[in-house]
Amino acid sequence: MRVYRPETGKLVRRDEPEPEPQRGEVLVRVRATSLNYRDLLILDGEHFTTGPGGLIPLSDAAGDVVAVGAGVTRFAAGDRVLGNFHSHWIAGRLPETLVGYGNGQDGWLAEYRAVPEHALVALPDSLTYEQGATLPCAAVTAWTSLAGVRPGDVVLTLGTGGVSLFALQLAKQFGARVVATTSSAAKAAKLTGLGADAVIDYRATPEWGQAVLDATGGRGADRIVEVGGPGTFAQSLVAAGTHHAEIALVGFVGADGPPVGFMDLFRSGASLRKIWVGSREDTEDLLRWLAVRPLEPVVDSVHPFDDADGAFERFRSRRNLGKVVISVA
Ligand SMILES: NC(=O)c1ccc[n+]([C@@H]2O[C@H](COP(=O)([O-])OP(=O)(O)OC[C@H]3O[C@@H](n4cnc5c(N)ncnc54)[C@H](OP(=O)(O)O)[C@@H]3O)[C@@H](O)[C@H]2O)c1
Repeated sequence: MRVYRPETGKLVRRDEPEPEPQRGEVLVRVRATSLNYRDLLILDGEHFTTGPGGLIPLSDAAGDVVAVGAGVTRFAAGDRVLGNFHSHWIAGRLPETLVGYGNGQDGWLAEYRAVPEHALVALPDSLTYEQGATLPCAAVTAWTSLAGVRPGDVVLTLGTGGVSLFALQLAKQFGARVVATTSSAAKAAKLTGLGADAVIDYRATPEWGQAVLDATGGRGADRIVEVGGPGTFAQSLVAAGTHHAEIALVGFVGADGPPVGFMDLFRSGASLRKIWVGSREDTEDLLRWLAVRPLEPVVDSVHPFDDADGAFERFRSRRNLGKVVISVA
């Protein structure tokens, strides 16, 4: 089978034997996989949990079950499946040990993968493989970041990355008012088209936290999906106002920014909740929601398996607007 592994920061295509499903495992014929920010960091050796290296990249995939090992009860050959981002977090609290795809164990940039049956969920017929493959990391993260958002709440999203676009789409479905930031007029138009109620250019308006207050009558956001980290947190805190907003701590795509003052945090009353994508139960809950409230994932481009380099370059360029997908036809 065809598979990619990183070697000194580059993807190298190899031929390897097709895996045999062991007891409790399912052999998946991968049909589509998608890229997330962490995949660039892992390839570049910059991810904070980077492990031994040389592991097959990518955490997200959809495919077909082609064989099952002894004792498997959840799936049978012919089932369409989606991988959960965390292979061993089923439900409840985050386990103490997690092994990430691509940095702790082989990921999904391969034609076949044998994984434990508990690492998979059923892929609904309403979703194509490409659409399904966009969900495990970005959409589930958006879903868990928005837990508890009520109709009428103001949700702030930052930029047009995978997590932020799903957060915008889901927040609108929940009846929230969405304020979004981005860095170009073309992307602002796309955000408006997806339903954003107000869009702020964070380059033209470096004090965009105040702009969020202005756009919300001085009150600020109720929920902030914080993907920028050090580069955006100080402004997010301004945008939170002083009414005990919740900041979902998701990521760190922003470059370094000013330090955050303790008294600013204290005065805001904001609570912080660290997000770690979500459990399999969270993925299943999201899929149940999407069965009732369908949503079309924003896909920037679909690359053939042989063009994995092109997919990574497209994603790295930041010119993409939406998920970059690799089709494993
Ligand atoms: N904790 C978790 O569970 C979890 C899960 C998923 C992802 N993450 C993290 O969340 C972050 C986003 O992931 P992703 O896959 O959605 O990333 P992505 O698709 O690579 O996001 C790229 C986008 O980030 C935006 N951006 C960059 N700097 C920005 C800034 N200063 N202010 C606002 N937006 C900025 C840009 O939007 P514009 O082009 O519109 O400016 C860019 O297009 C990453 O740090 C990732 O590691 C964490």
